[in-house]
Amino acid sequence: MRLTKEELHNLMKTKLAKAGLSDKHAAGVADVLLHADARGVHSHGAMRVQYYAERIAKGGTNTNPHFVYNKTGASTAIFDGDNGAGHVAAKEAMDEAIALAKETGSAIVGIRRIGHSGALSYFVQQAAKEGLIGISLCQSDPMVVPYGGSEPYYGTNPIAFAAPGEGDEMITFDMATTVQAWGKVLHARSKNEAIPDTWAVDAEGAPTTDPFSVNALLPIAGPKGYGLMMMVDVLSGILLGLPFGKHVSSMYHDLTVGRELGQLHIVIDPAKFTNPELFRTYISQTMKELNESKPAPGFDRVQYPGENSTRKERESEIHGIEIVDDVYDYLIDEAIHYGAYDQKDPFAK
Ligand code: NAI
Repeated sequence: MRLTKEELHNLMKTKLAKAGLSDKHAAGVADVLLHADARGVHSHGAMRVQYYAERIAKGGTNTNPHFVYNKTGASTAIFDGDNGAGHVAAKEAMDEAIALAKETGSAIVGIRRIGHSGALSYFVQQAAKEGLIGISLCQSDPMVVPYGGSEPYYGTNPIAFAAPGEGDEMITFDMATTVQAWGKVLHARSKNEAIPDTWAVDAEGAPTTDPFSVNALLPIAGPKGYGLMMMVDVLSGILLGLPFGKHVSSMYHDLTVGRELGQLHIVIDPAKFTNPELFRTYISQTMKELNESKPAPGFDRVQYPGENSTRKERESEIHGIEIVDDVYDYLIDEAIHYGAYDQKDPFAK
Protein backbone atom coordinates (compact mmCIF):
# COMPACT_ATOMS: atom_id res chain seq x y z
CA MET A 1 0.00 0.00 0.00
CA ARG A 2 1.40 3.37 -1.04
CA LEU A 3 0.60 6.28 1.26
CA THR A 4 1.48 9.95 1.29
CA LYS A 5 3.79 10.97 4.12
CA GLU A 6 0.92 12.85 5.78
CA GLU A 7 -1.38 9.82 5.60
CA LEU A 8 1.22 7.49 7.10
CA HIS A 9 2.17 9.97 9.83
CA ASN A 10 -1.46 10.41 10.76
CA LEU A 11 -2.14 6.67 10.96
CA MET A 12 0.91 6.06 13.18
CA LYS A 13 0.17 9.04 15.41
CA THR A 14 -3.46 8.01 15.87
CA LYS A 15 -2.52 4.45 16.83
CA LEU A 16 0.16 5.55 19.31
CA ALA A 17 -2.20 8.09 20.88
CA LYS A 18 -4.91 5.43 21.14
CA ALA A 19 -2.40 3.21 22.95
CA GLY A 20 -1.91 5.97 25.54
CA LEU A 21 0.74 8.49 24.42
CA SER A 22 -0.14 12.19 24.51
CA ASP A 23 -0.84 13.70 21.08
CA LYS A 24 2.47 15.56 21.28
CA HIS A 25 4.52 12.44 22.04
CA ALA A 26 2.58 10.32 19.54
CA ALA A 27 3.38 12.90 16.85
CA GLY A 28 7.05 12.98 17.97
CA VAL A 29 7.41 9.19 17.69
CA ALA A 30 5.62 9.23 14.33
CA ASP A 31 8.08 11.90 13.07
CA VAL A 32 11.07 9.57 13.66
CA LEU A 33 9.30 6.48 12.26
CA LEU A 34 8.23 8.41 9.15
CA HIS A 35 11.81 9.61 8.65
CA ALA A 36 12.99 5.97 8.69
CA ASP A 37 10.33 4.75 6.25
CA ALA A 38 10.96 7.71 3.92
CA ARG A 39 14.67 6.81 3.86
CA GLY A 40 13.88 3.16 3.07
CA VAL A 41 14.89 2.00 6.58
CA HIS A 42 11.61 0.11 7.01
CA SER A 43 13.03 -1.99 9.86
CA HIS A 44 12.70 1.17 12.02
CA GLY A 45 9.51 2.64 10.59
CA ALA A 46 5.78 1.85 10.69
CA MET A 47 6.39 -1.87 11.21
CA ARG A 48 7.43 -1.04 14.81
CA VAL A 49 4.16 0.68 15.77
CA GLN A 50 2.47 -2.54 16.86
CA TYR A 51 5.30 -3.32 19.30
CA TYR A 52 5.41 0.25 20.65
CA ALA A 53 1.61 0.30 21.05
CA GLU A 54 1.67 -2.94 23.06
CA ARG A 55 4.46 -1.63 25.32
CA ILE A 56 2.63 1.69 25.82
CA ALA A 57 -0.68 -0.04 26.55
CA LYS A 58 0.97 -2.43 29.05
CA GLY A 59 2.75 0.33 30.97
CA GLY A 60 6.35 -0.23 29.78
CA THR A 61 6.51 3.26 28.27
CA ASN A 62 5.84 6.18 30.61
CA THR A 63 3.05 8.15 28.93
CA ASN A 64 3.54 11.19 31.16
CA PRO A 65 7.33 11.34 31.62
CA HIS A 66 9.08 14.12 33.48
CA PHE A 67 12.11 14.94 31.30
CA VAL A 68 14.97 16.52 33.27
CA TYR A 69 17.86 18.30 31.53
CA ASN A 70 20.76 18.90 33.88
CA LYS A 71 23.94 20.70 32.82
CA THR A 72 26.91 18.99 34.47
CA GLY A 73 29.78 21.06 33.01
CA ALA A 74 30.55 23.76 30.44
CA SER A 75 29.73 21.46 27.50
CA THR A 76 28.21 18.42 29.19
CA ALA A 77 24.73 17.50 30.32
CA ILE A 78 22.52 14.62 31.34
CA PHE A 79 18.99 14.29 29.99
CA ASP A 80 16.79 11.96 32.02
CA GLY A 81 14.00 10.49 29.88
CA ASP A 82 11.98 8.97 32.75
CA ASN A 83 11.37 5.89 30.57
CA GLY A 84 9.13 7.85 28.20
CA ALA A 85 9.14 7.32 24.45
CA GLY A 86 12.82 7.17 23.43
CA HIS A 87 12.24 8.95 20.13
CA VAL A 88 10.81 12.02 21.86
CA ALA A 89 13.47 12.13 24.60
CA ALA A 90 16.33 11.71 22.09
CA LYS A 91 14.88 14.45 19.91
CA GLU A 92 14.51 16.92 22.81
CA ALA A 93 17.98 16.00 24.11
CA MET A 94 19.40 16.80 20.65
CA ASP A 95 17.64 20.20 20.72
CA GLU A 96 19.43 20.86 24.04
CA ALA A 97 22.78 19.61 22.64
CA ILE A 98 22.44 21.91 19.62
CA ALA A 99 21.74 24.93 21.83
CA LEU A 100 24.70 24.08 24.08
CA ALA A 101 27.09 23.54 21.13
CA LYS A 102 26.05 26.88 19.63
CA GLU A 103 26.99 28.47 22.94
CA THR A 104 30.22 26.62 23.79
CA GLY A 105 31.40 25.04 20.51
CA SER A 106 30.60 21.46 21.47
CA ALA A 107 28.16 19.45 23.53
CA ILE A 108 28.04 15.96 24.93
CA VAL A 109 24.60 15.05 26.22
CA GLY A 110 24.05 11.68 27.88
CA ILE A 111 20.46 10.46 27.70
CA ARG A 112 19.47 8.19 30.55
CA ARG A 113 16.48 5.93 31.03
CA ILE A 114 14.66 5.91 27.72
CA GLY A 115 12.79 3.43 25.55
CA HIS A 116 13.88 2.42 22.03
CA SER A 117 14.60 5.54 19.96
CA GLY A 118 14.56 4.10 16.43
CA ALA A 119 16.74 5.25 13.53
CA LEU A 120 19.56 7.45 14.84
CA SER A 121 19.93 9.34 11.54
CA TYR A 122 16.96 11.48 12.61
CA PHE A 123 18.83 12.95 15.59
CA VAL A 124 22.19 13.57 13.90
CA GLN A 125 20.39 15.31 11.03
CA GLN A 126 18.80 17.71 13.53
CA ALA A 127 22.37 18.96 14.19
CA ALA A 128 23.45 19.00 10.53
CA LYS A 129 20.37 21.08 9.64
CA GLU A 130 21.76 23.71 12.04
CA GLY A 131 25.21 23.68 10.38
CA LEU A 132 26.70 21.45 13.10
CA ILE A 133 28.22 17.96 13.15
CA GLY A 134 26.01 15.41 14.92
CA ILE A 135 27.06 12.05 16.34
CA SER A 136 24.81 9.67 18.22
CA LEU A 137 25.32 6.23 19.77
CA CYS A 138 22.96 3.99 21.69
CA GLN A 139 22.60 0.67 23.44
CA SER A 140 20.25 -2.08 22.35
CA ASP A 141 19.29 -5.46 23.75
CA PRO A 142 21.93 -8.21 23.86
CA MET A 143 21.76 -10.27 20.65
CA VAL A 144 25.37 -10.30 19.46
CA VAL A 145 28.27 -12.59 20.31
CA PRO A 146 31.55 -10.99 21.32
CA TYR A 147 34.30 -11.95 18.84
CA GLY A 148 35.22 -15.58 19.52
CA GLY A 149 32.21 -16.13 21.82
CA SER A 150 29.07 -18.24 21.61
CA GLU A 151 26.71 -16.31 23.91
CA PRO A 152 25.10 -12.93 23.19
CA TYR A 153 26.66 -10.09 25.19
CA TYR A 154 26.24 -6.79 23.30
CA GLY A 155 23.35 -5.28 21.36
CA THR A 156 23.37 -4.18 17.75
CA ASN A 157 24.65 -0.87 19.20
CA PRO A 158 24.31 1.64 16.35
CA ILE A 159 26.48 4.65 15.48
CA ALA A 160 25.29 7.65 13.43
CA PHE A 161 27.06 10.70 12.05
CA ALA A 162 25.89 13.69 9.98
CA ALA A 163 27.77 16.71 8.66
CA PRO A 164 26.38 19.68 6.71
CA GLY A 165 27.40 20.49 3.14
CA GLU A 166 26.39 23.42 0.98
CA GLY A 167 22.70 24.48 1.04
CA ASP A 168 20.62 21.55 2.28
CA GLU A 169 23.23 18.92 1.36
CA MET A 170 24.56 16.67 4.09
CA ILE A 171 26.37 13.41 4.60
CA THR A 172 24.52 11.01 6.90
CA PHE A 173 26.05 7.72 7.97
CA ASP A 174 24.01 5.46 10.24
CA MET A 175 24.65 1.80 10.98
CA ALA A 176 24.17 -1.00 13.44
CA THR A 177 27.51 -2.58 14.43
CA THR A 178 26.23 -6.01 13.33
CA VAL A 179 26.62 -7.51 9.85
CA GLN A 180 22.85 -7.66 9.47
CA ALA A 181 19.85 -6.51 11.43
CA TRP A 182 17.76 -9.15 13.21
CA GLY A 183 14.88 -8.16 10.94
CA LYS A 184 16.77 -9.62 7.97
CA VAL A 185 16.99 -13.01 9.73
CA LEU A 186 13.24 -12.84 10.42
CA HIS A 187 12.67 -12.06 6.76
CA ALA A 188 14.70 -15.15 5.75
CA ARG A 189 12.63 -17.25 8.20
CA SER A 190 9.40 -15.98 6.69
CA LYS A 191 10.60 -17.00 3.23
CA ASN A 192 12.27 -20.21 4.43
CA GLU A 193 15.52 -19.11 2.81
CA ALA A 194 19.11 -19.77 3.88
CA ILE A 195 21.17 -16.84 5.17
CA PRO A 196 24.85 -16.16 4.38
CA ASP A 197 27.16 -17.75 6.99
CA THR A 198 28.59 -14.31 7.83
CA TRP A 199 25.45 -13.00 9.57
CA ALA A 200 24.86 -15.11 12.65
CA VAL A 201 25.84 -18.09 14.82
CA ASP A 202 24.02 -21.07 16.35
CA ALA A 203 23.91 -22.08 20.04
CA GLU A 204 27.51 -23.37 19.84
CA GLY A 205 28.80 -20.11 18.37
CA ALA A 206 29.34 -21.71 14.95
CA PRO A 207 28.36 -19.75 11.82
CA THR A 208 24.98 -20.89 10.49
CA THR A 209 23.07 -20.57 7.23
CA ASP A 210 19.82 -21.80 8.84
CA PRO A 211 17.79 -18.77 9.99
CA PHE A 212 15.90 -21.01 12.45
CA SER A 213 19.16 -22.01 14.22
CA VAL A 214 20.28 -18.45 14.90
CA ASN A 215 21.18 -17.82 18.53
CA ALA A 216 23.10 -14.56 18.09
CA LEU A 217 24.20 -12.09 15.44
CA LEU A 218 27.81 -11.40 14.43
CA PRO A 219 29.57 -8.04 14.75
CA ILE A 220 30.82 -6.32 11.56
CA ALA A 221 34.45 -6.99 10.67
CA GLY A 222 35.14 -9.50 13.48
CA PRO A 223 37.11 -8.03 16.39
CA LYS A 224 36.88 -4.50 14.96
CA GLY A 225 33.07 -4.34 14.98
CA TYR A 226 33.13 -6.06 18.37
CA GLY A 227 35.39 -3.25 19.61
CA LEU A 228 33.03 -0.62 18.20
CA MET A 229 30.00 -2.12 19.94
CA MET A 230 32.00 -2.22 23.17
CA MET A 231 32.79 1.49 22.72
CA VAL A 232 29.11 2.30 22.15
CA ASP A 233 28.15 0.34 25.27
CA VAL A 234 30.74 2.17 27.41
CA LEU A 235 29.70 5.63 26.15
CA SER A 236 25.94 5.13 26.27
CA GLY A 237 25.75 2.68 29.19
CA ILE A 238 28.57 2.53 31.74
CA LEU A 239 29.36 6.26 31.37
CA LEU A 240 25.74 7.11 32.18
CA GLY A 241 25.47 4.76 35.16
CA LEU A 242 23.07 2.43 33.32
CA PRO A 243 22.83 -1.35 32.85
CA PHE A 244 25.47 -2.38 30.31
CA GLY A 245 26.43 -5.35 28.09
CA LYS A 246 24.31 -8.43 28.77
CA HIS A 247 22.47 -6.54 31.56
CA VAL A 248 20.74 -4.23 29.07
CA SER A 249 16.98 -4.91 29.09
CA SER A 250 15.49 -7.05 26.35
CA MET A 251 13.10 -5.45 23.88
CA TYR A 252 10.36 -8.01 24.53
CA HIS A 253 11.10 -9.52 27.92
CA ASP A 254 8.67 -7.51 30.05
CA LEU A 255 6.44 -4.94 28.40
CA THR A 256 5.18 -3.63 31.73
CA VAL A 257 8.41 -1.94 32.88
CA GLY A 258 10.61 0.82 31.43
CA ARG A 259 13.72 -0.18 29.50
CA GLU A 260 16.29 2.13 31.18
CA LEU A 261 18.28 2.46 27.93
CA GLY A 262 21.08 4.93 27.28
CA GLN A 263 22.10 7.08 24.32
CA LEU A 264 24.81 9.69 23.81
CA HIS A 265 24.64 12.74 21.53
CA ILE A 266 27.82 14.62 20.56
CA VAL A 267 27.52 17.92 18.70
CA ILE A 268 30.48 19.88 17.29
CA ASP A 269 30.40 23.40 15.86
CA PRO A 270 32.80 23.43 12.87
CA ALA A 271 33.24 27.18 13.34
CA LYS A 272 35.33 26.48 16.45
CA PHE A 273 37.86 24.51 14.35
CA THR A 274 37.86 25.94 10.83
CA ASN A 275 36.08 28.36 8.52
CA PRO A 276 32.49 27.02 8.71
CA GLU A 277 31.66 27.98 5.11
CA LEU A 278 34.77 26.17 3.85
CA PHE A 279 33.80 23.18 5.97
CA ARG A 280 30.46 22.98 4.17
CA THR A 281 32.14 23.49 0.79
CA TYR A 282 34.57 20.65 1.45
CA ILE A 283 31.83 18.28 2.65
CA SER A 284 29.99 18.91 -0.64
CA GLN A 285 33.27 18.51 -2.54
CA THR A 286 33.83 15.16 -0.79
CA MET A 287 30.35 13.98 -1.81
CA LYS A 288 30.97 15.03 -5.43
CA GLU A 289 34.46 13.51 -5.62
CA LEU A 290 33.21 10.22 -4.21
CA ASN A 291 30.46 10.16 -6.85
CA GLU A 292 33.01 10.86 -9.56
CA SER A 293 35.55 8.26 -8.47
CA LYS A 294 35.93 5.16 -10.64
CA PRO A 295 33.44 2.40 -9.72
CA ALA A 296 34.53 -1.21 -9.16
CA PRO A 297 33.33 -4.00 -11.48
CA GLY A 298 29.62 -4.60 -10.83
CA PHE A 299 28.94 -1.05 -9.56
CA ASP A 300 27.40 1.76 -11.65
CA ARG A 301 28.86 4.49 -9.49
CA VAL A 302 30.29 5.21 -6.07
CA GLN A 303 27.75 6.67 -3.64
CA TYR A 304 28.65 8.79 -0.62
CA PRO A 305 27.46 7.37 2.73
CA GLY A 306 23.71 7.79 3.12
CA GLU A 307 23.16 8.78 -0.51
CA ASN A 308 20.80 5.88 -1.16
CA SER A 309 18.58 6.87 1.77
CA THR A 310 18.65 10.57 0.91
CA ARG A 311 17.54 9.78 -2.66
CA LYS A 312 14.66 7.65 -1.34
CA GLU A 313 13.67 10.42 1.06
CA ARG A 314 13.44 12.93 -1.82
CA GLU A 315 11.43 10.45 -3.91
CA SER A 316 9.02 9.89 -1.02
CA GLU A 317 8.03 13.57 -1.20
CA ILE A 318 6.66 12.94 -4.69
CA HIS A 319 5.65 9.28 -4.73
CA GLY A 320 4.80 8.64 -1.07
CA ILE A 321 5.92 5.58 0.90
CA GLU A 322 5.24 1.90 0.19
CA ILE A 323 4.10 0.06 3.35
CA VAL A 324 3.66 -3.72 3.47
CA ASP A 325 0.01 -4.80 3.59
CA ASP A 326 0.24 -6.43 7.04
CA VAL A 327 1.50 -3.19 8.56
CA TYR A 328 -1.17 -1.13 6.81
CA ASP A 329 -3.92 -3.56 7.88
CA TYR A 330 -2.77 -3.22 11.48
CA LEU A 331 -2.61 0.58 11.30
CA ILE A 332 -6.21 0.86 10.08
CA ASP A 333 -7.51 -1.87 12.43
CA GLU A 334 -9.51 -0.93 15.53
CA ALA A 335 -7.28 -3.07 17.80
CA ILE A 336 -4.51 -1.22 19.64
CA HIS A 337 -2.27 -4.30 19.46
CA TYR A 338 -2.57 -8.07 19.02
CA GLY A 339 -0.58 -9.12 22.12
CA ALA A 340 2.14 -10.42 19.84
CA TYR A 341 5.26 -9.22 21.65
CA ASP A 342 5.07 -9.62 25.44
CA GLN A 343 7.60 -12.16 26.81
CA LYS A 344 8.64 -13.02 23.28
CA ASP A 345 12.10 -14.59 23.14
CA PRO A 346 13.90 -12.62 20.40
CA PHE A 347 15.36 -15.85 19.01
CA ALA A 348 12.16 -17.88 19.34
CA LYS A 349 11.10 -19.90 16.34
P1 NAI B 1 22.34 -0.26 6.61
O1 NAI B 1 23.20 -1.47 6.60
O2 NAI B 1 21.13 -0.26 5.74
O3 NAI B 1 23.22 1.01 6.18
C1 NAI B 1 24.41 1.36 6.89
C2 NAI B 1 24.99 2.62 6.27
O4 NAI B 1 25.62 2.30 5.01
C3 NAI B 1 23.97 3.71 5.96
O5 NAI B 1 24.49 4.96 6.29
C4 NAI B 1 23.76 3.57 4.45
O6 NAI B 1 23.36 4.81 3.87
C5 NAI B 1 25.16 3.20 4.02
N1 NAI B 1 25.17 2.49 2.72
C6 NAI B 1 24.48 1.38 2.40
N2 NAI B 1 24.76 1.03 1.11
C7 NAI B 1 25.65 1.94 0.65
C8 NAI B 1 26.33 2.12 -0.60
N3 NAI B 1 26.14 1.31 -1.63
N4 NAI B 1 27.18 3.15 -0.72
C9 NAI B 1 27.38 4.02 0.30
N5 NAI B 1 26.77 3.90 1.51
C10 NAI B 1 25.91 2.87 1.67
O7 NAI B 1 21.90 0.13 8.09
P2 NAI B 1 21.68 -0.85 9.34
O8 NAI B 1 23.00 -1.16 9.94
O9 NAI B 1 20.80 -1.98 8.93
O10 NAI B 1 20.88 0.11 10.36
C11 NAI B 1 19.54 0.47 10.05
C12 NAI B 1 18.97 1.43 11.09
O11 NAI B 1 18.77 0.74 12.30
C13 NAI B 1 19.80 2.65 11.44
O12 NAI B 1 18.98 3.79 11.30
C14 NAI B 1 20.18 2.46 12.90
O13 NAI B 1 20.27 3.68 13.64
C15 NAI B 1 19.00 1.65 13.37
N6 NAI B 1 19.28 0.88 14.58
C16 NAI B 1 18.71 1.32 15.73
C17 NAI B 1 18.89 0.62 16.91
C18 NAI B 1 18.30 1.12 18.19
O14 NAI B 1 18.33 0.38 19.15
N7 NAI B 1 17.76 2.30 18.24
C19 NAI B 1 19.69 -0.61 16.94
C20 NAI B 1 20.27 -0.96 15.67
C21 NAI B 1 20.05 -0.24 14.53
